Amino acid sequence: LQSDAQNAFDGAADADALEAARVTFLGAKNGQFKDVQKMLGGIEPADKRAAGMRLNDVKQAIHTAFETAQSQLGGGGSSQIEPGFDPSLPGRRPRLGHIHPITQTIDHLTEIMGRMGFEVAEGPEVEDPFHNFVALNIPEDHPARDPLDNFYLATAGTAVDIGEGDALLRSQTSTVQIRVMQERQNSAPGQPIRIISLGRVYRPDAPDATHFPMFHQMEGLFVDEHVTMANLKTVLRVFANNYLGDDVEIRFRPSFFPFTEPSVEVDFLWNGTWIEFGGAGMVDPNVFEAVGYDPEKVSGFAFGLGVERLCMRRHGITDIRDLYSGDLRFLQQF
Ligand code: PHE
Repeated sequence: LQSDAQNAFDGAADADALEAARVTFLGAKNGQFKDVQKMLGGIEPADKRAAGMRLNDVKQAIHTAFETAQSQLGGGGSSQIEPGFDPSLPGRRPRLGHIHPITQTIDHLTEIMGRMGFEVAEGPEVEDPFHNFVALNIPEDHPARDPLDNFYLATAGTAVDIGEGDALLRSQTSTVQIRVMQERQNSAPGQPIRIISLGRVYRPDAPDATHFPMFHQMEGLFVDEHVTMANLKTVLRVFANNYLGDDVEIRFRPSFFPFTEPSVEVDFLWNGTWIEFGGAGMVDPNVFEAVGYDPEKVSGFAFGLGVERLCMRRHGITDIRDLYSGDLRFLQQF
């Protein structure tokens, strides 16, 4: 049996023939080795031990012969190359992650505003009422401070006081205006300020196609002597033309914000429709006073635009929730 098996394995021309020979000799059901093994039952008890040992040696030898033949057929035999695999095909490119469309938008806006001399400032997302409200001329009883319209932080039902009152997730990036003006009072007194701040803001809105409880704003602040509304209009128009194209028109609608006077809402006409992108205005004297600037000496403008809305207009995105669904089929398009 051993030499029959050896000859069959050696003579196998390809992997299929070798496999057929393996089944003939080693097959678990009808292999020839199995037949011999069955004969062990009829052997005299006295000889059983020796016969069993001999049988094991033969089995081992047949296995070795099979393995040798298999490795001689090359590459360890057919079992290592999957059926249907064509090794001559080019490899598959591994898919790398890439930058989220909102981050791409932030980079793009930063670049456009940078060309107009605006540098990036940052502020924390967890804020105190002074920076989110008080310094922005939003008094205690103002509806904008309503707990139903803000994410106040609480631990086990108790408000978190961070030294300056109850902490909240900032509802607007205008907080950064305050932080920058406070900081520049010390680091660069009397110097003009020209900053943008891009970051997350939070409002408890139910998500729909145009609302999400977290979104991004681009805040702008320009403080100097003799800054005018005309400067504000120009900066926003140049920005809009750069980001959305030359066919964009800009419209200012009279509005009200506690921290600007006069205040406007900013609409862009694009592809025939007016769309509101945010608010703007001339920095209110009360705000200057809250951070120690003399409103008789300096003036300034501020604006806050919705980053998602800009990104959606530019790319034709119709549902803000797509940006935060994490769906790769959507994200891979950017
Ligand atoms: N903070 C305002 C908002 O979130 C936008 C704004 C910014 C308005 C700066 C005027 C000046 O709606």
